[in-house]
Amino acid sequence: MKAIKPLMINGFEIHKGFLSRADQAKVVQSLRHVVSQAPLVSPVTPSGKPMTVRQTSAGKLGWVTDTSGYRYQATHPNGTPWPAVPSQITAIWQEVTQCMRAPDSCLVNFYTEHAKMGLHQDKDEGNFDFPVVSISLGDDALFRMGHVERGGKTESIWLSSGDVVVMGGAARLAYHGIDKLRFGSSGLLTQGGRVNVTLRVVDQGASEQQPS
Ligand code: SIN
Ligand code: MN
Repeated sequence: MKAIKPLMINGFEIHKGFLSRADQAKVVQSLRHVVSQAPLVSPVTPSGKPMTVRQTSAGKLGWVTDTSGYRYQATHPNGTPWPAVPSQITAIWQEVTQCMRAPDSCLVNFYTEHAKMGLHQDKDEGNFDFPVVSISLGDDALFRMGHVERGGKTESIWLSSGDVVVMGGAARLAYHGIDKLRFGSSGLLTQGGRVNVTLRVVDQGASEQQPS
């Protein structure tokens, strides 16, 4: 992990090249274990529209979407509890946020060649005091950043494997999304594609403990 000054765009804190290639490979390996315990699903939005990513979760609570709505729940749609968040991933959260409080939720989104994610806010959590941390692995992806209000001028940046984005403060409820991938741009995943991991504190009652 590198301690270089992050780029700031619209309040989004972008740590380019945060993870070395060896650390990226370790995180991917840990995610293979997560997926073996909690298989990737092809979610649909509450209106029934299929999402183009496949996803799963680790941690106390996983984010799910189906025709009943968006929500966090303690079990995979197959009824089993989510696996633990891999320790390498919790360490990244601690390094970039300096929070001792661990995230409740680790959402894993897998993007194939034509997958994308429309502009949205992360607002299903009961707590917006903590940042959302996003880890990019595999192919480059064009990340679009907006504002807390819908509309207005957006900024875009290519996120590469090993980049970490912290969405806190003014950016915690800002719109963001993925427009497209540069499929095959990274050799990290043998079949190509991209994995994005987002870490969140979900619990309403959560209070921050500062590192001693
Ligand atoms: C997300 O907003 O949940 C994912 C963002 C990304 O894939 O970089
Ligand atoms: Mn999001």
